[in-house]
Amino acid sequence: MPTSAPYLGKDLVGLEHLTREQILAVLDTAEPFKEISERQIKKVPVLRGKTIVNLFFEPSTRTRISFEFAEKRLSADTVNVAASGSSVVKGETLVDTARNLEAMRIDMVVIRHGSSGAARFLAERIPSNVINAGDGRHEHPTQGLLDMLTIRDRLGRIEGLRVCLVGDVLHSRVARSNIWGLTKLGAEVAVCGPPTLMPREIEALGVRVFKRVEEAIEWAEVLNVLRLQLERMQAGYVPSLREYNRVYGVSRERVEAVPRDLLILHPGPMNRGVEIDSDVADGPHSVILNQVTNGVAVRMAVLYLLAGGAPETAEVAKHGE
Ligand code: CP
Repeated sequence: MPTSAPYLGKDLVGLEHLTREQILAVLDTAEPFKEISERQIKKVPVLRGKTIVNLFFEPSTRTRISFEFAEKRLSADTVNVAASGSSVVKGETLVDTARNLEAMRIDMVVIRHGSSGAARFLAERIPSNVINAGDGRHEHPTQGLLDMLTIRDRLGRIEGLRVCLVGDVLHSRVARSNIWGLTKLGAEVAVCGPPTLMPREIEALGVRVFKRVEEAIEWAEVLNVLRLQLERMQAGYVPSLREYNRVYGVSRERVEAVPRDLLILHPGPMNRGVEIDSDVADGPHSVILNQVTNGVAVRMAVLYLLAGGAPETAEVAKHGE
């Protein structure tokens, strides 16, 4: 049977409804789990006997593989289901798919879906623990958590930091999870991007808005550069990719114009030469691959806590005791 975890509740649908303490519990639990991925034998029996289904209705490289590594490193049994190879293409509904999986006695579902609210919809209808791996424009909570862990690793704190999300804020579930998580941990959060890619009334989420990327870079200690969602660009949100890069691109010249340290994150996949130049993505300010490494530890922590584990016993659990 699935567990209603004392630390996170039954599901992880987003960061909006988590408390500061719950977010810190995930980050602190991820710390001891980092070391497991550095071992020769990357496996502990924490989730032995648990069955987890990774249900991906949208493409993914980082999130899907990272969840699968996290599950396998904790010894869970995993099954991957992609929409293209499932009965979804024959018209089966999300709930029917999930109920059929339930009938095979699963414990957790990790879901990525193109519709905002799909994870909560599922969580309210099945007894298994549900983890949102990105739903439409709504949230991508584990991405927000791994971003915060990466910032904390490098700068030692989140509280009081100035963090700016730059780019296609309108379509970004990563932006929403970052805004909820960072503001709960006491960061000052800003956004910057073209007016056509900025949600109306974004200030209501407690963020300030920069119109010019140069101003955002001058203000920020951390830039989280968002992917320009090219699949939506037929709608004419920006005049051209070249123009977008010229006005909003995070380039070496813009970063070096600020004579102090700046941390650069990007959730991936990147459009090099569009929202971020290769000089910056591969340069000394970038922690983009550290984010990917931290993603496995954060997802291990989420799985562990949802399965009923406690932050204070994670250190013991990683030794397989
Ligand atoms: N960051 C992220 O969600 O990447 P994927 O789409 O590759 O999973």
